[in-house]
Amino acid sequence: MKNNDLLFSQPISRKQFMSIVVLTTSGLIMPSFLTGCSSSNYIQISQDIRNRPNNINKQLEIIHNASFAANGHNTQPWKFSISQNTIRLLPDYSRRLPVVDPDDRELFISLGCAVENLIIAAENLGYMTEVQYFPKDEPIDCIRINLKPFTSNADEHLYKAIPVRQSTRSEYDGNPIPNADLRQLEKIKPKSDVYIQLFTDSKDIKPLTELVMEGNIKQYDDDKFLEELQTWIRFSDSEAIRTMDGLSGRCSGNPSVPRWFGKLFFSLTVNGKNQAKTDQKKIRTSSGLALFISEKDDKRSWVETGRAFERFALLATTLNIKNAHHNQPIEVPDVRNQLTGHLNLGSMKPQLLIRFGYAKPMPYSLRRPVDKIVTMS
Ligand SMILES: Cc1cc2nc3c(=O)[nH]c(=O)nc-3n(C[C@H](O)[C@H](O)[C@H](O)COP(=O)(O)O)c2cc1C
Repeated sequence: MKNNDLLFSQPISRKQFMSIVVLTTSGLIMPSFLTGCSSSNYIQISQDIRNRPNNINKQLEIIHNASFAANGHNTQPWKFSISQNTIRLLPDYSRRLPVVDPDDRELFISLGCAVENLIIAAENLGYMTEVQYFPKDEPIDCIRINLKPFTSNADEHLYKAIPVRQSTRSEYDGNPIPNADLRQLEKIKPKSDVYIQLFTDSKDIKPLTELVMEGNIKQYDDDKFLEELQTWIRFSDSEAIRTMDGLSGRCSGNPSVPRWFGKLFFSLTVNGKNQAKTDQKKIRTSSGLALFISEKDDKRSWVETGRAFERFALLATTLNIKNAHHNQPIEVPDVRNQLTGHLNLGSMKPQLLIRFGYAKPMPYSLRRPVDKIVTMS
C-alpha cells in the first residue's frame, strides 16, 4: 500500500494534520491564510459587542442582554418585537437545525436561555416581568414578556455575568468544586418541572462518558449531521465577523483558516472516533457533569429547561466555574433511551448534559446586533 493511500485512506490526527499544514502552507498559500488571520480584530469585536450599545432605550438594552444567551450552534434562532412595555420573543425557524434538532427541542431550549437573560436584565433595569408561554392571542410559539416598572433589589451578580458567561470547550483543571458551590448550583430551579442532577464521582461519570462517546460515533457517522454542522462552523475570522453568528473556530481553540482549508481539515480529521476520544479526555479533566431533566417533553418544558440552564451557567460564572455541552447522548434517540434506562428516569426526560469545572476563558462567540433581531411593532 503506497504511503499517500495510507494518508488519505483513514482519518489522521489533528497533530499530523497541523504538521502537514506547517509544511505545505509555508510560502505556498500563505496569502489566502493571511486574509483570514486577524485574530486581534476578532477578539476585540467579540469583546466590544458585549459592552452596552450607545443610544438604545431600556427595552433594546434588555434584548441586547437576551441575545447573549447560550444557543445551539450559535444560530441565534430568535426574533424579538417591542410594543410599549411588552417584549415578544418568537422562534426564527429559518435558523433551525433540522438534522441534529429535528423536533426543534434545542431551538426552544435556546429560546428559554434568552428568556432567562431577558428577565434578569429587565429586573436589573427597573422592571418586574410576567412571562406568558404561547398566549392564544399571539402568533404561534410566541413567548410574551410583560414589563412593569418596578424598583427592586435584583440580583446584579447574575446580570453582570451575562456578558462573561461562555461555553468553554477547552480541557479543565480537574479541581473539585467546593460543596457549598455545588449546593448552590443544584438549587437553581425556577418554579418549573425541570430538575438538575449533578455527578461528581468518577464511577458515576464513567458510564455517562461512554454514552457521550457512543452518541459521538453515531452522530459523526451521519453525513447530513456533518454537513449541517459545517454550515454553521466559521473557519475564518472574516466569515465569523461577516455573519456574527455560528460556531467560530476560535471558540474551540482553532486558528483562523480559509474556509476551503478548514473544510479539508474537517474532512480529514473530524470523525466519531476522534471526537469520542477528545470528549472523553475533556470530561476527565472536568469537576463534574450536570444533567437537566424535565417531567414532560414539550415546548414549555424545553423553554423551562433553557431558563434553568442559563441561570445555572450564570451562577456558575459568578463562581468562576466554566461549562460546556455534551448533548450527544440526548440528541441521538436510542442513546437517549439508554441514558434514561441507565439513570432509571422512568417517564422523566433528559434534556441537556453539561460538564463543568475550572479553566481559563476561551475566545468569545459573536452575536448579531439588536437592530438585526428586533422589529418595533
Ligand atoms: C440547546 C443547546 C445545545 C447545545 N449543544 C452544544 C453541543 O452539542 N456542543 C457544544 O460544543 N456546544 C453546544 N451548545 C453551546 C452553543 O454552541 C453555544 O451556546 C453557542 O455557540 C454560543 O456560544 P456561548 O455559549 O459561548 O455564548 C449548546 C447550547 C444550547 C443552548
